[in-house]
Amino acid sequence: MTSSVLAMDTDMTTTRKALVLVVIIMFMSIHVYGHNSSPHRDRLRFQASLIQSNSVLSNSPSPTGATGKPSPLEYDVTSYGADPTGVSDSTESLLGAISDALNGSSNGFLFEGIVNLGGAEINLQGGNYLISRPLQFPVAGRGNLVIHGGTLKASNNFPDDGYLIDLSPSSNNGSSSAYNYEFITLRDLLLDSNYRGGGIQVVNSLRTSIDNCYVTHFTTNGILVQGGHETYIRSSYLGQHITAGGDPGERNFSGTAINLMGNDNSVTDVVIFSAAIGIMVSGQANTLSGVHCYNKATGFGGTGIYLKLPGLTQTRIVNSYLDFTGIVAEDPVQLHISSSFFLGDAYILLKSINGVMNGVNIVDNMFAGSDKGIDIVQLDQRNGAFKEVDQVVIDRNNVKGMKLKSTVARESVQGNGSSWIADLNSILVFPNLIKRVQYTFIAMGNSFPNHALRNVSSNQVVIQSDKDVSATVFVTVDQGNSF
Ligand SMILES: *[C@@H]1O[C@H](CO)[C@@H](O)[C@H](O)[C@H]1NC(C)=O
Ligand SMILES: *[C@@H]1O[C@H](CO)[C@@H](O)[C@H](O)[C@H]1NC(C)=O
Ligand SMILES: *[C@@H]1O[C@H](CO)[C@@H](O)[C@H](O)[C@H]1NC(C)=O
Ligand SMILES: *[C@@H]1O[C@H](CO)[C@@H](O)[C@H](O)[C@H]1NC(C)=O
Ligand SMILES: *[C@@H]1O[C@H](CO)[C@@H](O)[C@H](O)[C@H]1NC(C)=O
Repeated sequence: MTSSVLAMDTDMTTTRKALVLVVIIMFMSIHVYGHNSSPHRDRLRFQASLIQSNSVLSNSPSPTGATGKPSPLEYDVTSYGADPTGVSDSTESLLGAISDALNGSSNGFLFEGIVNLGGAEINLQGGNYLISRPLQFPVAGRGNLVIHGGTLKASNNFPDDGYLIDLSPSSNNGSSSAYNYEFITLRDLLLDSNYRGGGIQVVNSLRTSIDNCYVTHFTTNGILVQGGHETYIRSSYLGQHITAGGDPGERNFSGTAINLMGNDNSVTDVVIFSAAIGIMVSGQANTLSGVHCYNKATGFGGTGIYLKLPGLTQTRIVNSYLDFTGIVAEDPVQLHISSSFFLGDAYILLKSINGVMNGVNIVDNMFAGSDKGIDIVQLDQRNGAFKEVDQVVIDRNNVKGMKLKSTVARESVQGNGSSWIADLNSILVFPNLIKRVQYTFIAMGNSFPNHALRNVSSNQVVIQSDKDVSATVFVTVDQGNSF
């Protein structure tokens, strides 16, 4: 096995200068097999990664703080006077630690204009801190910082439009960067908004990690992401009220647990246990995986996942668990929902805004309900019918106690005569839309009748023969273009 590492400077775009392209080319071992003496290249694997760098990186070997003395990389909040018992107000102390951390040692830059803080940590030391104002970062243009390990609770006079942790710069951002922050990690935190505002706000930032957080008692959003890209929310728990389900106050749950108003974010392995809306998505290319929503039942007006991006949805929902609360998608264009479990009559509602649905896959899911005849996929056409429907595949889902709906349907009709009618309305999702038909005509006895497909209107397939015959007709229809 040989491997080589090539490093070269490129100048791909004007905004992304000083890129270092590290190309790792691995030539895998050359195998010689028994009867074949000529060596062949078994496999060539090519792996490339881009690392953004800056000339400052190599020029700053000894990090120093604003004072000129070496700075600590860990900022223990109690040494700033924060009260870990949660009795007295710790806002100023915590903001002091944040301010020092943001002003700490520079290790060059991450994205252009983002000072690399080298992985500095603001340590909450397992304490419980009361705050009366958002922990809003005083300056922008910082990255590689961790806040971890404790509880923040909003006081009774916390602003009810505020966020406990606010990654948006206050007034003067003090930075030349196009983004506010990069690679800020918020982990192992319990955030209690005390029914005053929200938990975390991330604005115009890159590559933010929110990991193992428990966000509760929010009234607006548990986590709000606006602009920027790649906020990754992992292994976290969000709920307006602390409940284990079947809460007598469920009807009154409000707020949104996660609100993604930006692109390229990811939510993985997250439980949402109370809120009116579990996850609201209004930016593209977000992916949701391993999400368990039992926030507010559809029957009480709740929604598990709401996709409010009519016309350009670009959302993937996989391996998730919608528990008595469903998914709503407005004019879905490029939407993939698979390998998910819908319990308690939870269903998917496709809502027409301008009547467009394109590139939708709802496949390989399981639905379980209580025999009330609830359709697994429903259309809301109050704003007008879906009239531009293309590349829609709703198929291969299984149901127990609910009503299967699909864009592909099969039926066999037996008869003695010259006309066979297969009515597929009970299965098909769209009314009066059959794009393709395949049928097989099996005639009994010795006759060889001519037969033809006559009509597909109103989701009814009509096959006729030129003479009376006893026959069985097998019909498969598609409302998309999958065959
Ligand atoms: C950073 O340090 C400088 C110099 O001491 C000071 O003027 C500035 O206010 C500090 N900024 C923050 C955000 O603390
Ligand atoms: C910060 O302010 C500067 C100057 O006003 C501006 O050019 C820059 O775009 C701002 N950055 C952010 C992230 O808002
Ligand atoms: C829900 O809210 C209504 C109106 O505020 C209130 O009357 C009712 O008692 C609440 N129900 C529960 C179960 O909390
Ligand atoms: C079909 O109908 C014809 C005429 O009514 C009758 O003679 C024949 O037995 C029927 N065949 C079957 C299989 O029912
Ligand atoms: C197909 O059937 C519908 C009613 O089911 C009818 O209105 C229409 O005229 C038929 N089309 C043809 C080509 O026979």
